[in-house]
Amino acid sequence: MSESGLKKIGVIGIGTMGNGIAQVAAQSGFETVVMDVDASVLEKGLDSISRSLDRLVKAFEKSGGEKGIDGAAKDEAVNRLSTTTRCDLIIEAVPERPELKEKINRKLAELGYDNLLVSNTSGISITRLGAAYGKPEKFMGMHFMNPVPMQKGVEIIRGLATSDETYATVVALCHDLGKIEIAAEDKAGFAINRMFVPFVNEAVRVIEEGIASVDDVDKCTYCLGHKMGPLMTADYVGLDTMLFICEVLEEELGSFYKPSPLLKRLVESGQLGAKTGSGFYVWEKYKASGINPDIARYRIG
Ligand SMILES: NC(=O)c1ccc[n+]([C@@H]2O[C@H](COP(=O)([O-])OP(=O)(O)OC[C@H]3O[C@@H](n4cnc5c(N)ncnc54)[C@H](O)[C@@H]3O)[C@@H](O)[C@H]2O)c1
Repeated sequence: MSESGLKKIGVIGIGTMGNGIAQVAAQSGFETVVMDVDASVLEKGLDSISRSLDRLVKAFEKSGGEKGIDGAAKDEAVNRLSTTTRCDLIIEAVPERPELKEKINRKLAELGYDNLLVSNTSGISITRLGAAYGKPEKFMGMHFMNPVPMQKGVEIIRGLATSDETYATVVALCHDLGKIEIAAEDKAGFAINRMFVPFVNEAVRVIEEGIASVDDVDKCTYCLGHKMGPLMTADYVGLDTMLFICEVLEEELGSFYKPSPLLKRLVESGQLGAKTGSGFYVWEKYKASGINPDIARYRIG
């Protein structure tokens, strides 16, 4: 029996984040249902989960059972994955567009879904999304980190009307998934992105002002003990998501949070980071192969 008492979990949007969330849910023993508008993405998503589980099986064999999972656990996880609806809790992980997330929440309610619903949003107001669902007491934020199977922390955010019961179930679900909960209030950027997004924005300004190169900006943070620099992390997260949160912070907290022009230009040009093959870095299969030459010469001021 799981600590949360939940059995079946749905994941809507099986992209970068939904993929990892579904894998961790299935691995943790939940019957897991995945949904996406794009059938080819759905197929690719399931395939990518299967390959990720294969890597865990290899790690298990190589470490003599100390790391990873064995072949039987992999097969069990794969068997727990399916692609239809009716769940105890649904995790929405579609792109960071408020109207799209609101539409999905309204649609779920129209279809008669009335159990717990959480959003993996990086910065949209949880209270706003809960209102669209129409049952705000059963709604809250569950902000997983990328890559989900590796990152332990999950930021959990209550909307104004989230009930104590929903909150307690989501805390228990974090434990069931082997994650550590980090509680934050429903204010612009919550806790993690309130700190991280201005850090990235300032790193971009350091490049724009000719203070340091992309390479050196990321190296600076190794001096702070970080494993990955802000620009590479931003490329992983997606520059569209970074820009969106900057705009939320600027709107709620003022001009100090204004997005830097270079961040805007990259998003306008469709260079969104690892997922599109270029951002601050050039990417091949989610591995950075060098600095984007357009950025290397970009200077203002
Ligand atoms: N990428 C990150 O590092 C990261 C980290 C934390 C949180 N998030 C948040 O997670 C959410 C998803 O981000 P992502 O990076 O996984 O995006 P993504 O673009 O990789 O994946 C989104 C998926 O949603 C699907 N989708 C679009 N419209 C849909 C609909 N109407 N119904 C069902 N599926 C639909 C797309 O086909 C795609 O597969 C966003 O809210 C983002 O802010 C992202």
